[in-house]
Amino acid sequence: MRLFKSAEEIEDLRKSCQITAWAHTAAMKAVQPGMNEFEMEALVDYEIRKKGCRRLGYESIVAGGKNATCLHYRSNNDTLHDGELLLIDAGGEYQYFSADITRTFPIGRKFSMAQAKLYDLVLKAQLEAIAITRPGTTLPEIHQRACETLVDGLLSLGLLKGTAKEILKSNGHQRLYPHNTSHWLGMDVHDVGLYRIQSEPRPLEPGMVLTIEPGLYTQPNDSEVPAEFRNIGIRIEDDILVTKTGCEVLTRDAPKTRAEIETLRS
Ligand code: GLY
Ligand code: MN
Ligand code: MN
Repeated sequence: MRLFKSAEEIEDLRKSCQITAWAHTAAMKAVQPGMNEFEMEALVDYEIRKKGCRRLGYESIVAGGKNATCLHYRSNNDTLHDGELLLIDAGGEYQYFSADITRTFPIGRKFSMAQAKLYDLVLKAQLEAIAITRPGTTLPEIHQRACETLVDGLLSLGLLKGTAKEILKSNGHQRLYPHNTSHWLGMDVHDVGLYRIQSEPRPLEPGMVLTIEPGLYTQPNDSEVPAEFRNIGIRIEDDILVTKTGCEVLTRDAPKTRAEIETLRS
């Protein structure tokens, strides 16, 4: 029952997604070097509750610079520095339905050249994964599409060596993209529902809601990564409703192109 959302449930999710998108936009406008991560956590919390969410759906991740390379970073108590990126993964809960949005943006005014290249690659992987999301597609297919795009881009940028086929087969990219692309979303942020039926991946059907959240995370001591690309964590996460003919991005009000983000930061 929870995997297939009714019209009323979709309206509640739409509202939690819209409110959360506004809160992320407010965070993009407000961040300044010298602030602490907990100030940004408080701001997102305030913006989400101000618009009618009674609580957040999960503990926010507010990670500046190298902290964003730690997947489940929850300390949220470090100073934010010019030249680094801020990753915020936070979602409001409206009428028990939770949004789950991640955005990553500069703490200063612009992305550096290396940050921009990785950011554009993650966005490309996300957009291509969204483009194949429709009834009949499976979550492993969505993950595969995201991984293929990331691997091609990482090879061109020199963060991976070898052939795409070998890397994808041996999961050589997991060092830089160590998590899955999607999970069900609803009353819980990682909502209930079988991912496989008789051990086969479950095809998407209208009324299901999932996240699409590729990322890249480079460690400071990874000698295979060119120096300018090290210590960067980027994730872009949206909430997607499967419709009869394709899908609807419920969190589309949260800006995610570099141009949109840099305009907000200027
Ligand atoms: N916020 C938890 C997740 O993105 O899965
Ligand atoms: Mn998620
Ligand atoms: Mn998330």
